[in-house]
Amino acid sequence: MEKAEIINWLKETESSKQETLWREADIVRKNSVGDAVHLRGLIEASNICSRRCRYCGINADQGSNIPRYRMTYDEMIDCAQLAMDYNYGSIVVQAGEDPGLTTELIERFIKWVKDHTSLAITLSLGERDEDEFVRWHNAGADRYLLRFETSNQRLYENIHPPLKCQKHVNRFDILKQLKDIGYETGSGVMVGIPGQSHEILANDILSFKELGLHMIGIGPYIPHPQTSLGKGENLICISNKEQVPNSQEMTCTVLALTRINCPETNLPSTTALSTLSNEGREQGLKCGGNVIMPNLTPLKYRKLYEIYPAKSCIKEDAQEFHNQIKKRIESIGRTVGKGRGDSVKFLSCH
Ligand code: 5AD
Repeated sequence: MEKAEIINWLKETESSKQETLWREADIVRKNSVGDAVHLRGLIEASNICSRRCRYCGINADQGSNIPRYRMTYDEMIDCAQLAMDYNYGSIVVQAGEDPGLTTELIERFIKWVKDHTSLAITLSLGERDEDEFVRWHNAGADRYLLRFETSNQRLYENIHPPLKCQKHVNRFDILKQLKDIGYETGSGVMVGIPGQSHEILANDILSFKELGLHMIGIGPYIPHPQTSLGKGENLICISNKEQVPNSQEMTCTVLALTRINCPETNLPSTTALSTLSNEGREQGLKCGGNVIMPNLTPLKYRKLYEIYPAKSCIKEDAQEFHNQIKKRIESIGRTVGKGRGDSVKFLSCH
């Protein structure tokens, strides 16, 4: 699609027209990646973070306002075991940017998983050094996720205050680096960040395509009252008309446009989307999504990984969610994916 067409769709408010787009995306999804919904077990390994992202509830500026935790190696192994018990094809290890999750610790964990299970491993540990990316890939890590959050530099800088001594890195360069190393590479954005216009969001969607991403995570921005962005401080001023809403409908439209423009990518129906309504997960699957990430983090840690408030999975026991998810997927005419669920796009080039 041309940029102008994407912008027109993003500005469309008539629900019957929006639904036409969502249906079109659903057909593209069916033809390109099929009916399988792949399940990835999410392990939130640490809420310790050295970054100051203004939207995120576990950022460093929160200091000890929230109790901090880092899972032990054994606790991480228990989560991987649970993913095997539930027959999930892969796990995602996500955390704040925590240097205490050392290169060696993560490497040892990857090796254990590769020696003892058939799980694919996705890492989502923030901006790390190239030699760490290489070591983890050599140890067996399959995929890496790093959302670029917005393709607009001014907005990016507004929501990501710099750190002292931080080297200047561009997330687009890191994503290219990850692809070159051989990772299945994922990125994504939030929908409705203050200061995000329809044009900026259209550029984000075009960037997904240009980067040739294998996985794209898209969820609504949910204000966190303890963050400076959530409190409405230092906002980039744009008119209400220009501002993208952080609604379920807008998120579905962005998912649909992403599916149509990147047909073979893996596209999760995110937890943030499911936070907006009870049917959020199903809704995301119906407008382009083909992945769900059930949370395997032990409940005692889960409430401490509150990147945004009222995360829908905060009290959701892993077993309980697991019992329901198959039924929920089948109730909308879909099937639970078998195996690792590698991206069709990745497989077609390797
Ligand atoms: N609302 C929605 N998504 C958020 N994330 C972080 N904070 C929020 C928020 N307040 C998303 C970011 C990050 C991912 C792990 O969670 O896009 O990359």
